[in-house]
Amino acid sequence: MHKTPSPLGGLDYLASAVLLLDAERRVCYANSAAENLLKSAGRALLGQALETVIHYTATLQQALDNAVANNWSYTGQNVEIRLGKSDGEVLHLNCTVTPTQCDEAPEVRMLVELQPIDQQLKASREERLIEQQQASRELIRNLAHEIKNPLGGIRGAAQLLEHELGNPALREYTQVIIKEADRLQDLMQRLLSPHRVAMQPRLMSVHEVLERVRSLLHMEFPETLAIQRDYDTSLPDLTADREQLIQVFLNVARNAAQAMDGKGEIVFRTRSARQVTLVKRRFRLAIDISIIDNGPGIPDDFKERMFYPLVSGRPDGTGLGLTLAQSFVQQHHGSIECESRPGYTCFLIRLPIR
Ligand SMILES: Nc1ncnc2c1ncn2[C@@H]1O[C@H](COP(=O)(O)OP(=O)(O)O)[C@@H](O)[C@H]1O
Ligand SMILES: [Mg+2]
Repeated sequence: MHKTPSPLGGLDYLASAVLLLDAERRVCYANSAAENLLKSAGRALLGQALETVIHYTATLQQALDNAVANNWSYTGQNVEIRLGKSDGEVLHLNCTVTPTQCDEAPEVRMLVELQPIDQQLKASREERLIEQQQASRELIRNLAHEIKNPLGGIRGAAQLLEHELGNPALREYTQVIIKEADRLQDLMQRLLSPHRVAMQPRLMSVHEVLERVRSLLHMEFPETLAIQRDYDTSLPDLTADREQLIQVFLNVARNAAQAMDGKGEIVFRTRSARQVTLVKRRFRLAIDISIIDNGPGIPDDFKERMFYPLVSGRPDGTGLGLTLAQSFVQQHHGSIECESRPGYTCFLIRLPIR
C-alpha cells in the first residue's frame, strides 16, 4: 500500500506511534506504528480530527490546545484513551505533545507521540502479585508450623485424659478435642506440603496427563459432566513433575465441575505459544493449556483473591486448590491466569518448554 511520506522524514521507522496534527487537531500524517496502534490505515486517518479517531480525556485536550495557543509541550504517563467511540477498546499510553514547525508542511503545528504501556503495566502487576503471594504463603507456612506443634500436645493430652476418665459419657468431649485436632492437623499438613516435596521432573506428554485428569473427573462426576478435548497433537513433550501437573489440572477442572454442580461442559485445550515472557524470562516456546467451563463464572472482586490460601467460595471448600495449583505452576516457571464472565470461565496455564 502506498503511504504518504512523512514531512519530517524517517518517522515511519520509529517504534512509537507518531501523529502530526494541524491547529484544528486534524491528522496531517500518521506513521506506521500509529496506524497499527489506532488500527486504521493512514489514508483513513488523514484529515480526521483526532477526537473522532480516539476518545480522550480533558487533560489531553488541554495539552493539545496549549501546544497550539502557547507553544507548550506536554508529557503524560499512563494516559487512558479509547479507540473510536466512547465504548471502544481502552489503551494505556505514555503520551507526549510537542509544538512543531515544519517548512515542508506549514499546516503541521504539533507532534503527538504515543507509547502503549499495557504490556509494561501487566508485567509489573504480575510481579507485584507474585511477590504478594510469596509473602502470604510464607506467612501461612509459618503460622501452620506454629499451630501444628501445640496441636500435637493438645491431642496427646486429650488422649491421656480419656484414659483417666471414669465416666464414659465424658469421652464424648475428649473425642471432640481429638477429632478437631486431627482435622486441623490435616489442614496444616496440606498447607505445608507443597513446599516439602521436591520436584521430580521428567519428559512427558501433556496430553497423557490431561487424559489421566479426564478419567479421574469422569469417575468423580459420572454421566452429567462432558469433557471435550481440543488438543494440538503436534506439541512437543515437556519436562515436568507428573504428579504436580495432575494436581494442577485436577484442582482447576474440579473447581469448574463443582461450580456447575457436575452438570455442564468443560473443554481441555492445548496450543503452542511462541516468544513468551514468563516471570522476566523469555522463552521461545511454551504450551498453553486452557481449562474452560460454561458455568456461572467468577465475580471480578473474587477473582483477585481466589488464589490466596484459605479463600473459598464454597461452604465446604478449603481454599487450597488454586493456591496449590499456582504454587506448582510457578515451580515449573509457568503462569496461571483466569478470565471469566457468566457462562465462560477459562483458566490458562502456560508452561515453558525452551
Ligand atoms: N471455574 C470456576 N467457576 C466458578 N468459580 C470458581 C471456579 N474456579 C474456582 N472458583 C472459585 O474459587 C474458589 C477457590 O477455589 P480453590 O482454591 O480450589 O478452593 P476450594 O475449591 O476449596 O473452594 C472456589 O471455591 C470457587 O468459588
Ligand atoms: Mg478447589
